Parts: sequence; C-alpha cells; structure tokens
Amino acid sequence: MYSEKVMDHFQNPRNVGEIENASGVGTVGNAKCGDIMRIFLDIDENQIIQDVKFKTFGCGAAVATSSMATELVKGKSVQEAMQVTNKAVMEALDGLPPVKVHCSLLAEEAIHAALWDYAQKNGIVIEGLSQPKSDIHDGEEEEEY
Ligand code: FES
Repeated sequence: MYSEKVMDHFQNPRNVGEIENASGVGTVGNAKCGDIMRIFLDIDENQIIQDVKFKTFGCGAAVATSSMATELVKGKSVQEAMQVTNKAVMEALDGLPPVKVHCSLLAEEAIHAALWDYAQKNGIVIEGLSQPKSDIHDGEEEEEY
C-alpha cells in the first residue's frame, strides 16, 4: 500500500530533531486525527534555509512526508520553499494512499507556520504566505480531497 520511497522515509526519516535558536518554528495539528507536527528552520541573512528539523506525534505517513518535505526545502530560499506543497511532497514520494493524504498536509502547514514565524520576527513579507489559521487547528478545515 505504501511506495518504497514512503517506506524508506518512514524507516529512516531525515532531519528529525530540533534546532536551538531557530529562525522560525511552526507547530500545527491535524484536524482529522489530532496528530501534531513541529518544524524548525535555520535561515541565513540571504533568506536561504540552511537547516531544517522536524518533530512529530504523527503517523508513519506524516513522518515520511515531513522527512521528504524537509529534504525538499533544505538549501532553498524562503520563496522557493513556498513551492513545496503537500502535492509536491506526495509526488516526490510516488504517492500516498488516499486515506493518508491529510497526513501530508501537516508538513506543508508546519513549514508555512515556521516561515510565518520567521517573517514576523524579521519584518519581511513572503509572497503567497498568509498567517497560519492557528497553531493547533480547531477542526474547521476546508475539505480538499
Ligand atoms: Fe495523523 Fe497521519 S493519521 S498524521
């Protein structure tokens, strides 16, 4: 049911951990299952993401998508990181079973929340980025799938 890439990133997740004094930290919850994701970004003065780490209480699909998402944003500019959508992450993983698609939203939302935190702290505007709904969702989320 899971692709080889999903199994690989689940069994050997990349970039698990925390970053002390991170440039931006985002924490989000999944409205469907209540699982939680936190992303830490280390961003340099040129707005390049030098390092990224994640921690999650999510399921295997959340672990795999976060692992892949962190790999995809590392080394990118904050603007480029906006292109790393849950769709892009799922494609990079060769797909996810439909019932697990909501899990992949955690990584995208946590990255956006961390970028928002960074933008707020530094007084910059990242095009296309809006304020996260709330740190932990209250269950009101548009159904996209
Ligand atoms: Fe909660 Fe996958 S079931 S993140």
